[in-house]
Amino acid sequence: AQDVNAAAGQRALEVLVEGLRRLEYRGYDSAGIAVVAADGIAMRKKSGKLAELLDELSRNPVPDSVTGIGHTRWATHGGPTDVNAHPHIVDGGRLAVIHNGIIENYSPLKARLLERGHTFLSETDTEVAATLLGDIYRGLGDGEGSGSGGRLALAMQQLAQQLEGAFTLVATHADQPGVVVAARRNSPLVVGLGDGENFLGSDVSGFIDYTRRAVELGQNQVVTITADAVEITDFLGGPAEGREYLVDWDAAAAKKDGFASFMEKEINDQPDAVAQTLLGRNDGNGNLTLDELRVDPEVLKTINKIIVLACGTSAYAGQVAKYAIEHWCRIPTEVELSHEFRYRDPIVDEKTLIVSISQSGETMDTLMAVRYAREQGAKTVSICNTNGSTIPRESDAVLYTHAGPEIAVASTKAFLAQITATYLLGLYLAQLRGNLFQGQIKDILAELAKTPAKIATVIANAGQIKDLAHSMAETRTVLFLGRHVGYPVAMEGALKLKELAYIHAEGFAAGELKHGPIALIEEGQAVIVVVPSPRGRDSLHAKVVSNIQEVRARGAKTIVIAEEGDESVREFAEHVFYIPETSTLLAPLLATVPLQIFALELATAKGYDVDQPRNLAKSVTVE
Ligand code: G6P
Repeated sequence: AQDVNAAAGQRALEVLVEGLRRLEYRGYDSAGIAVVAADGIAMRKKSGKLAELLDELSRNPVPDSVTGIGHTRWATHGGPTDVNAHPHIVDGGRLAVIHNGIIENYSPLKARLLERGHTFLSETDTEVAATLLGDIYRGLGDGEGSGSGGRLALAMQQLAQQLEGAFTLVATHADQPGVVVAARRNSPLVVGLGDGENFLGSDVSGFIDYTRRAVELGQNQVVTITADAVEITDFLGGPAEGREYLVDWDAAAAKKDGFASFMEKEINDQPDAVAQTLLGRNDGNGNLTLDELRVDPEVLKTINKIIVLACGTSAYAGQVAKYAIEHWCRIPTEVELSHEFRYRDPIVDEKTLIVSISQSGETMDTLMAVRYAREQGAKTVSICNTNGSTIPRESDAVLYTHAGPEIAVASTKAFLAQITATYLLGLYLAQLRGNLFQGQIKDILAELAKTPAKIATVIANAGQIKDLAHSMAETRTVLFLGRHVGYPVAMEGALKLKELAYIHAEGFAAGELKHGPIALIEEGQAVIVVVPSPRGRDSLHAKVVSNIQEVRARGAKTIVIAEEGDESVREFAEHVFYIPETSTLLAPLLATVPLQIFALELATAKGYDVDQPRNLAKSVTVE
């Protein structure tokens, strides 16, 4: 569930609707707004996508206002119904509240409120928090509280002290028009500084149409905004400060640019995403300059283990990183899903380097894992695409990917940028620890510098894979095979297909097939195989070609991604798609692209919304 809120000059409605439009990618099973009107709060909310809310607003308009809050939801407690949608209105229709996160002690709080005669309309933990906020507010006197937030800010502080779990709560009260108060613990919230107006949002895209000046908040803070002031305190009302920064992209960067979908646009952004992530990070002579990586080089020299923590697509970027980092740096590297790591008593100490990978920087599972590792004394580096987000803030250092805002829920350009960033990190460690000669690093960097143009070539030549995808709209299951770095690419290809086209898809290590999954192969089963370069080391290429033959012999329809000039695969493949030559370790930057396009086109052929696939959310800020 996500929100955008504004205290704007008599145009709260416009700001809210535009903000929700831009934030809808974060969650989209219901949406609602509340504005402070002359006679109380005017609220509308609807289950379904934002369009439903807009229909409702045109049927039943609300007056415009200077103050309002809005929310687009990804259901946690209670299904996506009108009643469970946010805002929740309490205190005799005068207090509106929206919420992200999960309030873990909502049940005892609810019991207490029921005893006191309160009733509830919805099944949400939010309504419990809202009701309690109203209760606290009623108990305070008119003049209580200080600063521009006054009584509402004081009530919010007292509420926040009683809540367990993760939350961003935002409230506005008809008795204090022009004031919006928010509290956050572990859920995202940023402030936008406007001219005679201020904003709050789950991320900066909520207000990027109006300002690029943003303030990053810390944990356990309460913030009050009015048209001309922003005040931050801790939960006890003590003064606190945020960090102001300038968003390095503008509203145009988050537009579709004439593409049919954000996903298509973002696939096309990939040459740039990789180029931008490489930019300025080496001197052209094989020396890496990762100035932002503020971990003492002496400490990095002594680490004896790396653990990469991430979820979803980012975890597959981590899998690719493992191959590169171990090869270049000879440091044992594990990759673990953040939510598994945290709860299994992992072995972590001062000599462990944690590398978290998160596009949003807000994934709760990853945040919790990073915190846990830090408590154990590990050094933490975050690879992240979102300035001002929580995971980099709570890490020892950050290496930003510069992919620009990623709006489509299924990750594409962030993935390639993440892989690029992990390569830079690996090369940096190799340089620091003397595992590679400068000349070797220089060669790899030169090869990397050529990948943006090669990615552009893959995209330009995608006509054939698009046609194939459209012809396969009725397919029920697709298997993906890869070895070495091709294995995580295969898993990512399968994930894209699941996310976008709702087709059963699985990625396997090609060598593992014969140990079980080959039983799945029957006549006509589509199998997509990522083939490594025939110029690579060992007999990797030959082994994968054998694996193709194994499935083909059992009736599979084989679709092969291979390196330009690799004729050896032709006779075993129904379809071959060629990608430009590159070194084995860098190949994921190219081989992933046709798989993304395949999933995009197949989902399009099925008529699905590729930017907002069912049940998903862009950034999952609950555990
Ligand atoms: C969600 C998204 C995925 C994403 C994952 C990790 O599940 O739907 O596309 O890969 O979160 O997100 P992060 O922001 O941490 O990279």
